[in-house]
Amino acid sequence: MDKQIKTAIIGCGSFVNSMHIPNMLKNPKFKIHACVDINESAAKETCKKTGAEYWTGDIDRILKDKNIDLVVITTRHNTHAGLTVQAANAGKHILCEKPMAMNIEECHAVSSAVKKNNVKYTVGYNRGIAPLIKKAKELLTGDSHKKMIYHRIQAPFPADSWTHIPEIGGGRFIGEGCHIFDLLCEITETAPVSVYAAGGTFLDPDKVKISDSGIITIFFGDGSVGTTLISSAGCSAFPKEATEIYCNGKVIYINNFTDFEYYPGTNGAEKYSLAKQDKGQADEIDLLADSIINDTQSPNGINKAARAAIISFKVNESIAGMKPVQIKETEYNLIS
Ligand SMILES: NC(=O)c1ccc[n+]([C@@H]2O[C@H](COP(=O)([O-])OP(=O)(O)OC[C@H]3O[C@@H](n4cnc5c(N)ncnc54)[C@H](O)[C@@H]3O)[C@@H](O)[C@H]2O)c1
Repeated sequence: MDKQIKTAIIGCGSFVNSMHIPNMLKNPKFKIHACVDINESAAKETCKKTGAEYWTGDIDRILKDKNIDLVVITTRHNTHAGLTVQAANAGKHILCEKPMAMNIEECHAVSSAVKKNNVKYTVGYNRGIAPLIKKAKELLTGDSHKKMIYHRIQAPFPADSWTHIPEIGGGRFIGEGCHIFDLLCEITETAPVSVYAAGGTFLDPDKVKISDSGIITIFFGDGSVGTTLISSAGCSAFPKEATEIYCNGKVIYINNFTDFEYYPGTNGAEKYSLAKQDKGQADEIDLLADSIINDTQSPNGINKAARAAIISFKVNESIAGMKPVQIKETEYNLIS
């Protein structure tokens, strides 16, 4: 490999253009080499913006291009697993946006292809490596007491968003909740053992045919408990996300991945704010680059990807059955 990681963007839509592409253009470890989209004008526009060598509507062209080291899959959710398998079989390293897959069979197909071809794989669960979450984990390092976590993610998530179409987006829990299920697992650093979710369709039920909102509680092996409120019928004027962590008389409060408050005990609080919200996306691609360059373990690899995906499938199951659902490590530890 050259010094730079030659990268192809698969799916030149809004997220990759607003996040991964600006981050890659600022990071000297990457060179965007090709852009592919079934919408050729999107591929062409992104090619122009990134200075890539070429654009195409033909996925096979980039899979056969020996110059390409890494593909970034930022298509809609129903194509993630299939494109990941194709890319792995072509020997490409992979950054796949969340979700890993739409169902358990797809998780296994992705895991097998990545393992067989010995390529690096990262799923886009950036929140667990966001700077303020890392700071919280550092402050609690060495404290073996169990934790309680409350997370909120709320926004007006329009009823006509493709995320709510079960066969394309998988719904809010598979499509986006996985981010937060991963975050809760990353904060507790212990295995999730069961999940209970209560929720339903809070948007227009004539348009949204799958649960779009819920309150989800995950129980962990060490007795920790994490709850997240996911509201699709939220308010854009109110902060989208917040994380509260309670552990052994200490509290950490993170507002929207920007403001940090640490209450160490009885003596007030330490407070500071980042100049800009940081959910960890830039750090995530930098860690992935290092893992490719040094042939080390990639961040948010297969087992972490599968862990939150499995939880998301069980959230839908728990809402439908109105009861807790067990989670076994063997269901998500797909690569040893
Ligand atoms: N990590 C995060 O914080 C975060 C935030 C927002 C979105 N996302 C994820 O980013 C991904 C893209 O979301 P978006 O909002 O940009 O969607 P989008 O619809 O704007 O973009 C998707 C693009 O993929 C193209 N496409 C679809 N099928 C394709 C195929 N088979 N081959 C090539 N191109 C194809 C579409 O034409 C479109 O241009 C989703 O997985 C979404 O969940 C992640």
